[in-house]
Amino acid sequence: MEPILWEWINALARWLHVITAIAWIGSSFYFIHLDASLRRRAGAPAGTAGDAWQIHGGGFYHMTKYMVAPPQLPEDLTWFKWESYATWLSGFFLMCVLYYRGADLFLIDQDVLALAPWQAVAISAGALVAGWVAYDLMCKSPLGRNDGALALAGFAMLVATAWAMTRLFSGRGAMLQVGALMATMMACNVFMIIIPNQRRTVAAMLRGEAPDPALGKTAKQRSLHNNYLTLPVVFLMLSNHYPLVSSTRYNWVMVALVLVAGTAIRHFFNSRHAGKPTPWWSWGIAAAAMLGCVWLSTMGPAQGDAAATVPTKVGFNQVEEIVATRCSMCHAAQPVWDGIATPPRGVVLEGDGIRRHAQQIRLQAGFSSAMPPANVTGITPGERALLAAWPGDTK
Ligand code: HEC
Repeated sequence: MEPILWEWINALARWLHVITAIAWIGSSFYFIHLDASLRRRAGAPAGTAGDAWQIHGGGFYHMTKYMVAPPQLPEDLTWFKWESYATWLSGFFLMCVLYYRGADLFLIDQDVLALAPWQAVAISAGALVAGWVAYDLMCKSPLGRNDGALALAGFAMLVATAWAMTRLFSGRGAMLQVGALMATMMACNVFMIIIPNQRRTVAAMLRGEAPDPALGKTAKQRSLHNNYLTLPVVFLMLSNHYPLVSSTRYNWVMVALVLVAGTAIRHFFNSRHAGKPTPWWSWGIAAAAMLGCVWLSTMGPAQGDAAATVPTKVGFNQVEEIVATRCSMCHAAQPVWDGIATPPRGVVLEGDGIRRHAQQIRLQAGFSSAMPPANVTGITPGERALLAAWPGDTK
């Protein structure tokens, strides 16, 4: 009964997380677009920064932006915050269910560092807090006055974090951790900076004072960061389904390349929506970065000896033996591994099942070190090389 319950908790939490994330990213993309498409028109009311006309769902909308605020506070004002909070809360809950509850399989890798589950969880949660504090201090330091320098420092911090996490956790654990840090930075930007600044603006107006324009400026800077982080975060959240991304040797360099690609793509849309010359070259940068990722993913498993001798001819019986000793305890019709009730993802690696899953076996355990999770069964680099060299169709 218990595995069924956890499976449903996992499924429902993921459903919620994806929905809230769509709502958050959707509204955030919408406002970035709206902001970029505002145009100043002759005869516009004083105190406005521009307006935009839109058509959607059978009606016309006329949006006007007030800088810093309208002369009178409107009676009903829509705030956008729960999209963000709910995404972070559901995401952290899902992380607890999958990566903290299953730390021994998904977060820890004995080949990387022999951590106890509580240690891994403490490091992971601590790194989220520390990462946010470091980023926030960076934004508030003199560096924060120079957008370009701040972006470079933030980039360096994230790549360094990615490298460090791959020295502490399994590949998929490390990639998820970096994604979770970026998502935490984004949600905290909303919770700790953007919304409080908006509250102060409103409070000043209620007191009949002019709000401080600096409040809006700071919020705008954080909002810009969120915009550029969106695409890389989504990539990292999906990375654990792709062993070539999460569990190959240069996974942490891929984080850097994905940050570059994501930024380039956002730059394309931001410029286009602002009516500036369309930077088509952005796609060239994004494509080059992603090709770099493809190339890096061929560099072999994250753990183990890169120079493991590659056999030239691999027979099916050799593969069958490796699978029997390293995989079958979980991927059998009746798994014997404690806590695994049914063959994971329906993958049964017995007899003909091995041949049918040949390409997946090579991806998960040959080209990458995604399987066995945490290398619980101690597969060797030589065995991985053998699986990678297996064409999959030998007798
Ligand atoms: C300790 C148990 C365990 C062992 C040992 C193990 N696996 Fe897995 N395997 C899992 C779990 C759990 C999942 C599901 C992972 C997830 O939910 O992301 C999985 C998923 C998979 C998948 C499907 C991946 C997908 O995303 O569809 C393949 C293929 C796979 N394993 C191959 C292997 C191979 C090959 C070996 C041996 C080299 C192996 N596994 C050893 C537990 C195990």
